[in-house]
Amino acid sequence: MAERGFVLWFTGLSGAGKSTLAEFVGKRLKELGHKVEILDGDEVRENLSKGLGFSKEDRDINIRRIGFVANLLARNGVVSITAAISPYREVRDELRAKAQAAFVEVFVDAPLAVVEQRDVKGLYAKARAGKVAQMTGVSDPYEPPLKPEVVVKTGEEPVEASAERIFSYLRGRGLVG
Ligand code: ADX
Repeated sequence: MAERGFVLWFTGLSGAGKSTLAEFVGKRLKELGHKVEILDGDEVRENLSKGLGFSKEDRDINIRRIGFVANLLARNGVVSITAAISPYREVRDELRAKAQAAFVEVFVDAPLAVVEQRDVKGLYAKARAGKVAQMTGVSDPYEPPLKPEVVVKTGEEPVEASAERIFSYLRGRGLVG
């Protein structure tokens, strides 16, 4: 069981809690004996996707790269957890279709009003002031998944509760014991 890889694909606005959830769920999966790798948007953009911007073209390249690596890992028994905004439905669905292991899409559903209020990185304020262009949710699109495997409302519940929702789904699919 612990050798079974899959892709756990988080999608949602900046500041919705994707990275926090990825770390939390990843830690628990490791405790259960799974091999885990996390591909975090901010981190990927410092190495694998260094130099890419936030146009649709660049975001699509970024997401395809993340999906490519996540698939390689997952088909070799690693649980690949991705935490990038991944705003475009078509590319997410393309990666799901190509995946050679189970692909579990988790919509980290926090309303713009909530993430903007928190504004952990100060980016929303900058976007409103016109100092950051193409900000997802403000001046750039976010296309929510139509049929995600799991939806977590991070604005309404603590990370433990969202993680439990995800584990409950994974247990139901037989992906974790
Ligand atoms: S994605 O659209 O290509 O999936 P990714 O998750 O890698 O995005 O990067 C998003 C992170 O980049 C955000 O959390 C934020 O810190 C930063 N960022 C900088 N500019 C933007 C922008 N215009 N839109 C969204 N995120 C931005």
